[in-house]
Amino acid sequence: MSYGYHKTAINGLGLVGSSQLRGPSVLRSKKQVNYTISNIEKSLLSGQNEFDVEIISFRPLMNLNEIFNYFENESNISRTNNIIKINYEAPSCGREKIAYYGSNCFTGADIVIKRFKEESGIDRYESAVLTTLVSQFLGNQFNNTETTSRKISFKNVHIVNYYDDLYFLESKLDYFEKFNDNNGVRFSDDRCKTLEAFTHFTYNYSSQQLVVSDLQGDLDTYELTDSAINSVYNLFGRTNLGTQGINNVINRHQCNSFCSKLNL
Ligand SMILES: Nc1ncnc2c1ncn2[C@@H]1O[C@H](COP(=O)(O)OP(=O)(O)O)[C@@H](O)[C@H]1O
Ligand SMILES: [Mg+2]
Repeated sequence: MSYGYHKTAINGLGLVGSSQLRGPSVLRSKKQVNYTISNIEKSLLSGQNEFDVEIISFRPLMNLNEIFNYFENESNISRTNNIIKINYEAPSCGREKIAYYGSNCFTGADIVIKRFKEESGIDRYESAVLTTLVSQFLGNQFNNTETTSRKISFKNVHIVNYYDDLYFLESKLDYFEKFNDNNGVRFSDDRCKTLEAFTHFTYNYSSQQLVVSDLQGDLDTYELTDSAINSVYNLFGRTNLGTQGINNVINRHQCNSFCSKLNL
């Protein structure tokens, strides 16, 4: 990995509860993690809400073989500078990340920046970017192949670097729901067909080497984010539950008649 910023760089102020600079209240009822306040959060607390950040963008995958050395190829990565505005109020919290809402000061577009709750280095951020790139690639293949299904898409993800604070950056979804997790558990079933067909498709397309799950986002428009990949390869971060996870996701699917109609 070769970015020019430091791997262990998030330079926080101490753990939640250890000073008057506590973490955002949305975290306090959750299981305690070693939450370290970031430079952006420290500035938000003192009233600053605009940040001149570096935005790192990633070229889409052209094939799945690129996953093994994607970040070693500098031409896959581009950087720009931009000013973003962030609200400290009402962040959202998932299992791993905290998300702040805001806007792009140049375009006015609504954005979300998200960080891992635990202090995390660039490798963890890259694993999540790779997960999105693979999900996007397979989503495009699925859209081209499965004409009976709805079109799906995964949000473009960028990394924000602000004095070695790392955040993901993506555009904001108006609605956000979760369909399934990375261990085969489903949370609703009325729109399962397209999403389960997609998961089966990823399994087949990759010759059973991986499965994309943890599908969430706007389930009416099928605009998705924060997917997870279970894989036989040691990539895709901590949510990769390996072969056992692949089997759990595939075996627990229930839309088999639709999937078999599509030969999935
Ligand atoms: N693009 C987005 N638009 C709107 N809300 C979002 C977006 N991405 C994340 N969120 C909100 O932030 C929460 C945490 O983000 P998520 O990426 O799901 O992290 P986690 O890994 O913790 O599940 C989500 O449950 C959702 O409420
Ligand atoms: Mg999530």
